Amino acid sequence: MSLVERVVAQFARPTGFFGNIVGFIMAHRPSNLERNEWAISLLNLQPSDRVLEIGFGPGVTIQKMSEIVIHGVIWGIDHSEVMFRQASKRNKRAISAGRVRLVLTSVSQLPSFDDPFDKILAVNNVQFWDNKTDVLRRLREQLCTGGILALVHQPRIPGATEDDATEAGERFTHYLETAGFKDIKVERKMMKPVSTVYVQGRNLQ
Ligand SMILES: C[S@@+](CC[C@H](N)C(=O)[O-])C[C@H]1O[C@@H](n2cnc3c(N)ncnc32)[C@H](O)[C@@H]1O
Repeated sequence: MSLVERVVAQFARPTGFFGNIVGFIMAHRPSNLERNEWAISLLNLQPSDRVLEIGFGPGVTIQKMSEIVIHGVIWGIDHSEVMFRQASKRNKRAISAGRVRLVLTSVSQLPSFDDPFDKILAVNNVQFWDNKTDVLRRLREQLCTGGILALVHQPRIPGATEDDATEAGERFTHYLETAGFKDIKVERKMMKPVSTVYVQGRNLQ
């Protein structure tokens, strides 16, 4: 495996010593914070929302969302043990209060959630999922009628270009349409080193 492939693998599923460093980078890198804050602003979170974040990484976005969702609940899933530990530590108080629930699992093996969600968010991890449209169809079934799922992506491969961001927006739109989402909305934020795209669909069934 080349060095680039090893680094990408750590972002796909952080493990061990280097996984902890990758988690630290994700929790502090300005572009990570900026794209996640932008995603939260577009989700129009309400204090009583039920929210699910997939691939929560170090748990910074869970923490930010829990400052808005003060009467609802935020679930998170991630398949990395190292990220589960970092996010659990970062969100200790909200977890104890029952306002945040984190589960160590893959998006391919969704746990059973008690009630449907108002919003589901995934930032920079759809590229790692298997059977994307099947997974998205199952996630749509976890949304209430009118509920929103948002896929957010900033291409981070070395040499990523604005065309990569455009292509990601088109690909995500196709996934969501195929999985039965309606009212697809695409937003773009100019950022360094390259733009972030936000693609949202609604469950209308
Ligand atoms: C590049 S990191 C992004 C973290 C965070 N969302 C952010 O934007 O800073 C991708 C995260 O998604 C998780 N992930 C990747 N594939 C996953 C899957 N199939 N199921 C659950 N989590 C997954 C990884 O473990 C990692 O924590």
